[in-house]
Amino acid sequence: MAVVSIREVVKEYRAQDAPVRALDGVSLEVEAGEFVSLVGRSGCGKTTLLNLAGAMDFPTAGRVVIDGEDTARLDDAALTALRRRKVGFVFQFFQLLPTLTAAENVELPLQLAGESDVRARALERLRLVEMESYADRFPHQLSGGQMQRVAIARSIVHGPKLLLADEPIGNLDSTSAEVVMQLLRRVADELGAAILMATHSLEAAKITDTLVRLRDGRIEERRRLGAAAERVPLG
Ligand SMILES: Nc1ncnc2c1ncn2[C@@H]1O[C@H](COP(=O)(O)OP(=O)(O)O)[C@@H](O)[C@H]1O
Ligand SMILES: [Mg+2]
Repeated sequence: MAVVSIREVVKEYRAQDAPVRALDGVSLEVEAGEFVSLVGRSGCGKTTLLNLAGAMDFPTAGRVVIDGEDTARLDDAALTALRRRKVGFVFQFFQLLPTLTAAENVELPLQLAGESDVRARALERLRLVEMESYADRFPHQLSGGQMQRVAIARSIVHGPKLLLADEPIGNLDSTSAEVVMQLLRRVADELGAAILMATHSLEAAKITDTLVRLRDGRIEERRRLGAAAERVPLG
């Protein structure tokens, strides 16, 4: 069973004059451990699709099923619980809280869910992204690439089945971008998360399993990128 299944989704936004059709019949599935890159020019619908995939927004038509749960059938409380347990997000501008240390930022989703053992679990995730020694630093004491690594640790601290990343390297230099891509690859391979990542970088997409190209709200191309052994390394 796919971790997320998007079925013939249409999304229209209300605008002043005519409605904007941001997605026009998109179907897409992402399996556990699969890393999918979503490419296409600005305005083609990438962010809209990620928001629907994470049940942050809802389609005008079509269905979104996350880990077997049809999001249209859930009430607000169930949706909040679903997002908290099963979905993680990574953003272009990191969205770390400036007044919290790296470790406290990573702990936050666990704190909000009322869980225990939060420090140990946060440190374990910081170790996975090789940022454990920066646990007590504040975001302004970190580079962009380091902030994104902390943000990745935060996005996976609760063990989500689905990770959504919107232009995660869009604000990074090429060296940091490569590190972040390798870490996302590790999240898919070692934690078995399904990852859907919007990116402008075809170079970055090479490390993913499947490339999906959107154009004007439709899927224009869908390509398997081969087994791990044949994957072209970044560089
Ligand atoms: N909240 C909104 N209200 C109205 N139109 C929107 C809204 N969000 C996105 N759009 C429009 O939907 C289309 C797709 O946008 P988006 O999903 O952000 O694309 P991308 O992430 O690929 O740049 C664009 O035409 C954009 O202007
Ligand atoms: Mg976008």
